[in-house]
Amino acid sequence: MKKMICMALALVMLLALGCTAFAAEEKTEVDAIKEAGVLVVALSPDFAPMEFVDSSKQGQDQYVGFDVTLAKYIAEYLGVELEIQAMSFDACQTAVAMDAVDMSISGYSWKEDRAENFELSDYYYAGDNETEQVLLLREEDFEKFTKPEDFAGVTVGAQNASLQQTLVEEQLPDANLQVIGEIGVGVMELQSGNIDALAVADGNADAIMANNAGLVKCSWEFDVAAEYEANVIMMHKGDTALLAVVNEALAEAYENGYYGPWYDEAKIAAGLETATEVSIADEAEEVAEEAAEEAEEAADEAAAG
Ligand code: ARG
Repeated sequence: MKKMICMALALVMLLALGCTAFAAEEKTEVDAIKEAGVLVVALSPDFAPMEFVDSSKQGQDQYVGFDVTLAKYIAEYLGVELEIQAMSFDACQTAVAMDAVDMSISGYSWKEDRAENFELSDYYYAGDNETEQVLLLREEDFEKFTKPEDFAGVTVGAQNASLQQTLVEEQLPDANLQVIGEIGVGVMELQSGNIDALAVADGNADAIMANNAGLVKCSWEFDVAAEYEANVIMMHKGDTALLAVVNEALAEAYENGYYGPWYDEAKIAAGLETATEVSIADEAEEVAEEAAEEAEEAADEAAAG
C-alpha cells in the first residue's frame, strides 16, 4: 500500500513538473493575447480609406476603414476583443518596435528596412493604394510641375517614416523634403501654400480630393517597385507565433472574398463614390427625368384639352 501511494505521488509530481516545463516552453505572444483577452493594434487614422476617423462617432467606434475591419477580423479570429490605439504613423512603428502594442495595421507597404526590423505579414489587399504613388498639387500648379526636374528647390511634403518619404528622397533628390507627422496637416500645408506638393498613395489621394477642393494629382508619378504593391501587417521582431496566426487569418479572409466588399464599404465611408453607387444615382436621375417628361406631357395634354 505504502509503495503504491509513493508511486502515485511520484506520478503526480512528474506530471506537475512536466506541465510547468511544457507551459514555460510553449507560452507565446499569442497565448498572452488570449490570456489578456484583448488585441492591441496601433494605427494612424489619417489614411482614408484604409484608416480614418468618423467624426460623428466617439471612442473606439470613431476609427473606421479597411484596416479597422481587418483588425476586428483578426481579433475575432483570435477570440479576443480589439483595442485600437491611434497615434502618428511613425509612433505606430516605434510602438511595435518597443513591443508596446501587439501589432500595427496602418496601410504599410512592404519595405526592406521594415522587413529587417519587424515581422511582416503576408500581403493583403491595398485597393487603390497598390503600386501608384502620386503627388498632390494645387490645381493652378498642374502645368507647372510635370517632371522630376520641376521639383528642384520646391518644398515637397511626405509623411514621416513612410514609403512616400523614401520615394521623395530617392526620386526627387533636389526637392526640399518637408516631413509631416499627419497627412491631414500636410493637406492643409499644401492648401495654404506652405508646401507645393504632397506625396501620397493614389487611393489616399482620391479620398483627399473627394474631401478637399482645389487639389489635383501631378501628371508625373513615382516609379514604384513591384514589392511595394500590397500591404503588410507589422509585428514585433521575433513574434513568429503571432505572425503565423495572422497569416492564417489573412488567408481565410482572402479565400472568403472579404477584401473587395470591405474596401468598397471603406470607400463609401470615406466619401468616395463607388461604381454601384454611381449607377444607383444615375438610375434615380433617369427615373426623375422620365417622371418630369411625363408630367410635362400630361400638362401639355391638359392645356390642349
Ligand atoms: N503605404 C505607405 C507606407 O507604407 C503609407 C502608409 C500610411 N499609412 C497611414 N496610416 N498614414 O509608408
